[in-house]
Amino acid sequence: MISTLTNTSEGTLRQIEEEKAIRKTRDVFLLFSLGSQFDHLIKLAIEKLGLFCLVADPSRVKAEDVQRVAPKGIILSGGPVSVYEDAPPFDRAIFDIGIPVLGICLGFQLWAQHIGCKVVNAAKREFGVHVFYTAAADISLFSDCQRVMAVLESHGDVVQESSDPEFKILGHSENTPIAAAQCKHLWGVQFHPEVTETTSGPQIFNNFCFKICGAERAFPAKDVGQQKIDELRGQIGDKKVLLAISGGSDSSTVAFLLRAALDGHLGQLRGVYIKGIDRPDDEAHVLKYFGWLDLKVVDATERFLAVLKGKVGMHEKRVAMRQVYKEVLEEEAEVFGASFIAQGTLYTDVSESGSGYDTGAKKAQIKLHHNVALGFSIPELTPLIDCVKDTGRDIGRAIGVPEELLSRHPFPGPGLVVRTEGEVTAEKLMIARLIDGIWIEELRREKLYETVWQAGAVVTQSIVTCTKGDDATSGTVVRLWACWSVNGFTAQAAELPYPFIKRVCRRITNEVREVGSVDYRCSDKPPATIECG
Ligand code: XMP
Repeated sequence: MISTLTNTSEGTLRQIEEEKAIRKTRDVFLLFSLGSQFDHLIKLAIEKLGLFCLVADPSRVKAEDVQRVAPKGIILSGGPVSVYEDAPPFDRAIFDIGIPVLGICLGFQLWAQHIGCKVVNAAKREFGVHVFYTAAADISLFSDCQRVMAVLESHGDVVQESSDPEFKILGHSENTPIAAAQCKHLWGVQFHPEVTETTSGPQIFNNFCFKICGAERAFPAKDVGQQKIDELRGQIGDKKVLLAISGGSDSSTVAFLLRAALDGHLGQLRGVYIKGIDRPDDEAHVLKYFGWLDLKVVDATERFLAVLKGKVGMHEKRVAMRQVYKEVLEEEAEVFGASFIAQGTLYTDVSESGSGYDTGAKKAQIKLHHNVALGFSIPELTPLIDCVKDTGRDIGRAIGVPEELLSRHPFPGPGLVVRTEGEVTAEKLMIARLIDGIWIEELRREKLYETVWQAGAVVTQSIVTCTKGDDATSGTVVRLWACWSVNGFTAQAAELPYPFIKRVCRRITNEVREVGSVDYRCSDKPPATIECG
């Protein structure tokens, strides 16, 4: 999907030179994506510095290709595999060229193993935010960072000491004695500087690119929103576009990008809102903000319930939901005579669905998102495919999307399906709507809604004995959750005031007859994900 360096033919080298000229830079950085969920965040972090970062396919780009491209620096991402079992495809001769390398997590383990360190499965693994202690005050990679800093870890393997006299340990964390190291031009960190939880991450990339690699002439980003509008205009011409619109920030931003691209020719655009697994206020929200759009509401409740009947696993439910979603959009595209289907798909959705940069590295499927690889019979327009949540919102802000559309909590495309454990029935959807309504209303009332990134409520499969009105009965357990995040790639369970949670819990058990008990979820992402399903 997003362009990836796979060879160094004359044509490719010419394209790189052209891109450098556009970006007014002499330097290029190569990011070898080893299948990390966060690869795109690394690229964004380098490009936020005004530098050009090209993603390279580790299975096809060899040492001689790297020499031909002559990057200023090389970055190796993390990945889902282990260096001693199912190691990622990568030409290790690249480590011997002498170009500075920053290895992140698996990327660090890869060069460490190459120079003779053992990499072993750690007794205690590290997931989530940990404290990192730098080994000295004068380490150029950590220049202008705090000596003790919060970092996000997500690993089961660790690097062990090397006999190479040039191998230096640069820091440790609670369970990892070698959490960062250097050996000549090879630098490595076991943690993830590309995620927001690692607060010094941008400074670490800055140090690597400018202090260690000697990058010059940073050129800040141009007007990305206008660039996307121009691209859409060129793609669409005088053809028609059907937009899947949910009223969330991504599809809303795409609607406004299309409006600008069509510039007065709104007859070429139709929006479709599919209802059935949505929250009670979603439809009204869309109608309120998209009066200017030819909007069709399709009630697919019965179709969703029919395909979900008897399905209990989250993956099979996601697959079933996607089928209806795809069919409705295909049907509506035909009715409208559309040549394109537009969606607000983000890079996060693509990455978690197991796709992303076109490399030979293995990538895990975290969950199959509803809007990825649907195989429509007509081409898709996905202008936010290179964005994560916050960069997509930034584009929305820049082109004048109303703030209420942008700051509304994200809501997943498969809607209440992923907030219902076990078989999805009309009754469970009703409970899911009621508990979501109370939860969001109370967050808003307490002015906590704006302080959390997303919140949701899940109808679990657990049934507990409870006592209501002196009688013994049984009721469903529901799970509330809320998280802090920036882009959805990582998140922390929101630490909300306990008296507030108690009050919401009391309201739910009083007002929703079927509910016997309420839980509040405490896990961060990683290792959990934001939605439970
Ligand atoms: P997870 O649960 O994967 O969610 O940590 C990250 C963000 O994506 C949303 N989400 C989805 N959004 N289609 C979507 O459009 C999906 O299939 C889907 N699954 C999860 C989730 O609500 C969170 O904001």
